[in-house]
Amino acid sequence: IFLQQWEAQVRPYIEMIDYMRRIGIEKELALPAIAVVGDQSSGKSSVLEALSGVALPRGSGIVTRCPLELKLRKLNNGSGWTAVISYNEVRETFHDPAQVESYVRRAQNMLAGDGVGICDDLISLEISSPDVCDLTLIDLPGITRVPVKGQPEDIGDQIRRLILKFISKKETINLVVVPCNVDIATTEALRMAQGVDPDGLRTLAILTKPDLVDKGAEADILQVLQGKVVPLKKGYTIVRCRGQSDINENVSLVEATRQEKEFFAKHTQFSYLLEEQRATIPCLSTRLTKELVAHIKSSLPSLSDQIHVHLSGLRVELKNYADGPPLEPERMGPYLSKKILEFSDQISELCRTGESDDGN
Ligand code: GDP
Ligand code: NA
Ligand code: MG
Repeated sequence: IFLQQWEAQVRPYIEMIDYMRRIGIEKELALPAIAVVGDQSSGKSSVLEALSGVALPRGSGIVTRCPLELKLRKLNNGSGWTAVISYNEVRETFHDPAQVESYVRRAQNMLAGDGVGICDDLISLEISSPDVCDLTLIDLPGITRVPVKGQPEDIGDQIRRLILKFISKKETINLVVVPCNVDIATTEALRMAQGVDPDGLRTLAILTKPDLVDKGAEADILQVLQGKVVPLKKGYTIVRCRGQSDINENVSLVEATRQEKEFFAKHTQFSYLLEEQRATIPCLSTRLTKELVAHIKSSLPSLSDQIHVHLSGLRVELKNYADGPPLEPERMGPYLSKKILEFSDQISELCRTGESDDGN
């Protein structure tokens, strides 16, 4: 679903930006990235894998121990699924989606050790496939307060610093992930996101694990979703991802999407959220697509400035070629010999001084 929306709504912008890059507007033009922030085991990796269709390492305890940049690149040339994982000097290519987890785990062990430590170094995983959208997702370690055995005393601060580095970037859309069964008012991830985005322009909140809500606590969740507990400009979406037992039973991502819809449809208090477009991963996809388009659009004015600068540079260059090749065949001979003489002069000058006079 995300892919279809992406094709229709975001792709034209991506193509425009690609085109502008090709003509040299801006080499490192930043496309928006999506980062997840939340407590440990709140469901960040689960949300990212449901959005991207790429199975990531997830589970209880600290699983994501290094920032993982997941760069999805859509292929239109008929080639198959390819992943390139890079960290430090390592750069490996593989072709089996089922190997993502083991490659990422191995990379984490290399960077952050075999234990429970974390590391600032980025693992970059670039996946090219006909079935993904051009999108950059960033999975981050979760916030912890109390160090577990083997973790340094200041692990909490280390993780907070790491998260801030990513969520502070203006071109990043921050997904704050909060499980339904914790108190959102005291959620540190939300406070951090609000700290770097006080106007709430690039902060989206996601409630996870609705299947674990205590009986009788559903009304509290609805209060949160209606913005009555912590109001947020971009609001909340509630999703249900694969739990540990689903993973043990090899429930596929496609099947999980179906079960998610069924879960909400059958829920006495939550079913109306489907109509209000505030529940399920596909609905979150729609919201994200809109946010991405808005984000790209808002960067267009500065792009248009760059185009004008580029254009006037080209006009100056064009003036230098004002006496270009003549159109009349009889003037071509003299023109060419003049150019060859100029070129030969430049070569002589280059041999004499060791540099050309135009500074190149
Ligand atoms: P992270 O540490 O924030 O990246 O969290 P993970 O994505 O690794 O998820 C932590 C655990 O919660 C995993 O065992 C997931 O399977 C489980 N989980 C995630 N979302 C849900 C959900 O909606 N319902 C249930 N029951 N479990 C979930
Ligand atoms: Na986890
Ligand atoms: Mg994780």
